[in-house]
Amino acid sequence: MAKSLIAGNWKMHGTAASAAAIAGELAKRWNNQNSVEMIVFPPFVHLTSVAEAVGGSDVAVGGQNLCQFESGAYTGEVSAAMLADMGCQYVLVGHSERRALFGETNETVAEKFKAAQQAGLIPVLCVGESLQQRQQKQTLEIVAQQISAVTEPVALQDLCRAVIAYEPVWAIGTGETATPEQAQEVHGAIRAQLGDAGRETTLLYGGSVNPSNAVELFAQPDINGGLVGGASLKADDFLNIAQQLIEQE
Ligand code: 13P
Repeated sequence: MAKSLIAGNWKMHGTAASAAAIAGELAKRWNNQNSVEMIVFPPFVHLTSVAEAVGGSDVAVGGQNLCQFESGAYTGEVSAAMLADMGCQYVLVGHSERRALFGETNETVAEKFKAAQQAGLIPVLCVGESLQQRQQKQTLEIVAQQISAVTEPVALQDLCRAVIAYEPVWAIGTGETATPEQAQEVHGAIRAQLGDAGRETTLLYGGSVNPSNAVELFAQPDINGGLVGGASLKADDFLNIAQQLIEQE
């Protein structure tokens, strides 16, 4: 069985104080006796205060990005080892905003994925198609390519030990969610691509997940949880979404 997971991507929002406040609230109210794991991904500069706030709780912390290189003259970058040193267990790799706005290619994403695993972090590989690609019926092909780009430098077994998040670009921050059927179609295809080893791989859906649409998405057989953006910035909403995942267990 794949592990169920609820993750909050805070993107570039908040102050050190607001980040610590949300994290503190989650740490106080969340326990994973239900076997659902919770992770928050704050901006790099808030990692220390968030890691402190969730210390000793069942809430894990991750970075939103990492550098593909180990160390050296890479001004402004943050390495996988640095994230691990800050208490991160996870890291987002290849978020569509990184791909679209910061020029990350499938090749860079694959290098980052490998760097994350080498440092002992669990990568959360983000994949998904644009609106135009969906309209041109290229969704399954694009997602399959994004996944196979990573299986070149890492073994399929290593990919299966990671988390994969399907986030259709047109559903991110738009309020427009994929229907449960659309999401399941892609999750089912990803699971099939991973083969036998992928039975235990956690597959998340992301894109305008909120307390009203979570239950139907989480009811799909190949969706093991959510990667939540906007709604994860409010502890009540995020906990509500997490509760809906527990109820699917
Ligand atoms: P929203 O939930 O705000 O649409 O963001 C989704 C996302 O990009 C999570 O990584």
